[in-house]
Amino acid sequence: MTISFEVAHTDIMGRVGRLRVGDRTVRTPALLPVYNPHLQIVKTSEMARMGAEAIITNAYSLSRSQEFRERAAYEGLHRLLDFEGVIMTDSGSFQLSVYGDIEITNQETLAWQQEIESDIIVPLDIPTHPDAPRDQAESDLHTTLARLREATALYGEGGRVAGPVQGGSFPDLREAAGRQVRAMGFSFCPVGAVVPLMENYRYAELVTVVLAAKRGIGAGACVHLFGAGHPMVFALAAAMGCDVFDSAAYALAAREGRYLTPDGTLHLNELHDLPCACAVCRGYTAREMSDAEDREHLLAHHNLAVSFAEIAKVRHAIYEGTLWDLVDARCRSHPALLKGYRALLGRTGDLEVSDPVSKRRFFYRGSESCARTEVMRYHRLIARLQIGRRCLVAMAPHPPHGFDEVLLFRPPFGPYPQALSETFPIGQSEIPAWDPDMVRSGCAGIRSLVESHPDSTLTVWCTSRWAPFLREELPGIEVVCGDI
Ligand code: GUN
Ligand code: ZN
Repeated sequence: MTISFEVAHTDIMGRVGRLRVGDRTVRTPALLPVYNPHLQIVKTSEMARMGAEAIITNAYSLSRSQEFRERAAYEGLHRLLDFEGVIMTDSGSFQLSVYGDIEITNQETLAWQQEIESDIIVPLDIPTHPDAPRDQAESDLHTTLARLREATALYGEGGRVAGPVQGGSFPDLREAAGRQVRAMGFSFCPVGAVVPLMENYRYAELVTVVLAAKRGIGAGACVHLFGAGHPMVFALAAAMGCDVFDSAAYALAAREGRYLTPDGTLHLNELHDLPCACAVCRGYTAREMSDAEDREHLLAHHNLAVSFAEIAKVRHAIYEGTLWDLVDARCRSHPALLKGYRALLGRTGDLEVSDPVSKRRFFYRGSESCARTEVMRYHRLIARLQIGRRCLVAMAPHPPHGFDEVLLFRPPFGPYPQALSETFPIGQSEIPAWDPDMVRSGCAGIRSLVESHPDSTLTVWCTSRWAPFLREELPGIEVVCGDI
């Protein structure tokens, strides 16, 4: 039995794909609810009805369970948990990072997960805390990689073992870890030890760490963002090329009376209405839910339902080529997410390779949109335009005659020839009234045109309103006002 992954659609670095594990298939991006047979807040049958094609459970706590240990070994996980889809097991490394010590070796956990017929086995990797110093991150990574090597020696390259990518907060270590894990043959690669970053809203660092890991892993493997369970991060994480998420958040939040939404967490007590389409929220008032005896179950059901709906939304956005719109919307719900979004926009070089050259639309949503992949790519395309010797960029109506070439202007992209007016992104862009940010970005396009065409002379034709601004932005370029 092996794990394989194929990609059908991409948008930014996000992918819609299929993860195959033996004869089971999971559509990605996928959410794996964490299932704890000791608690059973939401049953596996209910998870399957909500769309779960895979779940994750903790192999370590099963191995220590009076109640389930023998049955797990005897019946196998699928019967024990009554779930037909993919079952991934975690080794207990997370316990290691939270509680310090666990009493199991790498070989023991691998053998145990094999014995209970887990579909995706996780070795005893060592999650390095994001604040740990470099020597710690290096030595933890060294141990993790040795344990992965041990797993491949036992079960063969590319078996059903996951290859966690560690390396702490050091991008070069993350990248090297990703490369080595891939070189060992792993095609399912969780990015580990990011839970403390997400818990503390350190999204800019999350972006740095994940993109570094992705540079090492490359496009061929399925990437799991370990411990990412809040629906508000799915769009951002998917845009970085994360394909799998796992959620304990739905249950942890429910225990504390917290109501998850794709825009953040609310407390049930502060809700007057239940702003969600799931069966629970339409069947109860906020008050009824709050007073219900099975409140925890109702909340957990809702939390999981919104999480699956958000995954569906992410998949839909990738199909449609509108993932930037979703990322933009989600990341405006919290200032820390906005920092993560801006960090992502700062790495368009990483993102452009997989971002489609043509999409359904480009919707301008403020200054962040100026840094999007489509704008950066257009600015480079400008260098390849063939233009005449005397060229006018018409930013105002009724341009004068006598030029070899008249280009039009569409911010945030910049100058374009009439021939490109129907093609993406010019023809499919929805741009509101001009603002300084978008015009500044368009000016970068004009400068790109000038730098790449030294034999042409360029004149900009504009209204008096924009002339001073353009003269600032375009030093050395002739700017002529059309309305005075
Ligand atoms: N769960 C959350 N983070 C991690 C991690 O880094 N490793 C493992 N094995 N499980 C996790
Ligand atoms: Zn709901």
